Amino acid sequence: MTLSIEKIEKLVEPARVHSSVYADEEIFRLEMERIWGRSWIYIGHESQVRKPGDYYSTTVATLPVLMIRDTKTDQINVLHNRCGHRGAIVTQKQCGTAEILRCPYHGWTYRTDGSLHAAPHPGAYKDTGMNIKDAQYSMRSLGRVDQYRGFVFASLAEDVVDLSDFLGELKHTIDNMCDRSPEGEVEVTGLNCHRFLHPCNWKFFLENLHDAMHPMCAHAATSDAVQNYLSDLPEGTKPPAEAEIIDPFGGSYDFFDKMGVTALENGHGYMGGKKSIFSHFEMYPEYLDAMREAYGEERMQDILSFNRHNACCYPSSTIRDGIQSIRVLRPQTVNSTIIESWTFRLKGAPEKLLQRTLRYSRLINSPGSMVGPDDLDCYYRIQESASNGSIDWIDLHRYFGQDQSEASSLTAMGTSDLGIRNQYQAWLDYMRQGESQ
Ligand SMILES: [Fe+2]
Repeated sequence: MTLSIEKIEKLVEPARVHSSVYADEEIFRLEMERIWGRSWIYIGHESQVRKPGDYYSTTVATLPVLMIRDTKTDQINVLHNRCGHRGAIVTQKQCGTAEILRCPYHGWTYRTDGSLHAAPHPGAYKDTGMNIKDAQYSMRSLGRVDQYRGFVFASLAEDVVDLSDFLGELKHTIDNMCDRSPEGEVEVTGLNCHRFLHPCNWKFFLENLHDAMHPMCAHAATSDAVQNYLSDLPEGTKPPAEAEIIDPFGGSYDFFDKMGVTALENGHGYMGGKKSIFSHFEMYPEYLDAMREAYGEERMQDILSFNRHNACCYPSSTIRDGIQSIRVLRPQTVNSTIIESWTFRLKGAPEKLLQRTLRYSRLINSPGSMVGPDDLDCYYRIQESASNGSIDWIDLHRYFGQDQSEASSLTAMGTSDLGIRNQYQAWLDYMRQGESQ
């Protein structure tokens, strides 16, 4: 039985959320239908499918989908990765190249636009009333597919707002990542990513990226070790590049408060703005020269002083423009989520920039990172309590009632729970819409 809107609304209060929203199977099913099935979901970057026939497999709302470059039109299609015959998943490869896709069960074959190419032994369908050209026998396209500066999104639903309107102000984050390239473009590094299973509901991961109260505690072991190491360095010694990345994780409450947090429409938001944990990163002279030549001094300064940290593109991804990385959420079950961590190369920038991006990813976002396992342990602890019912409500009172209104956004001190409260406003909006469908 589907939960009524009245019951769902009782689970989300202005500054606390009932723990069952992280553990209830029915709520997870409704989220996949009403949030993940009715918004734009990040699929991948166009550089993952450079050549006609290149494809990449992923999921939307737990359903397998395929991003594939059309061999005829060169456009990027996003198809359900299901055979139109009996529904078998067509390819389980993460990525590859194919002019024709072939289902391994009965050998039905498909073109890169999803249309049926051939069904074996076609004579058996003669005079049966089955029209093999009917769209139901294709690998169906998702409801909507679009991209913004090479970042491809898709929606299961057809009746969604345009991608540009969905992203809204968050487009500036994507713009900034691209504009940090002297050529104004980025591309993925390699065709795969760091990918690992998190033992928690998808929302716990997303919320943690706007939780500036945890780094100085959860990540203290690593940041303390780095700070001890730095204090022992002989005077005048250049610290190792790793220290530049890890050191800010031990920042004070005041440091994170000053970074600020901003809430945008549709559940989006970001930490930082002018100041973030990587705004102090060393700027390499050869990179500055290339940027100055491409944009001029004033525009270059504008681009490089834009520093958002963990911009949340609700519900499926988080973006770090200043370090050129994206983390992508792929919910699996109510209490497990695959997180993909992708890194990007700034076209036309020196190799040093890419090395720093990769170093950041290894140190902070990879399964073997020096910081990520701290978060993983925290996710495990809070998911366990939500699942076994040992906590009723999750508190969101940090700086509650002290948000500042700015145009179409709200801002607050960095350790505020504003970003999470804003995600729940969008959560309610989506969940309410669903009932009228
Ligand atoms: Fe963390």
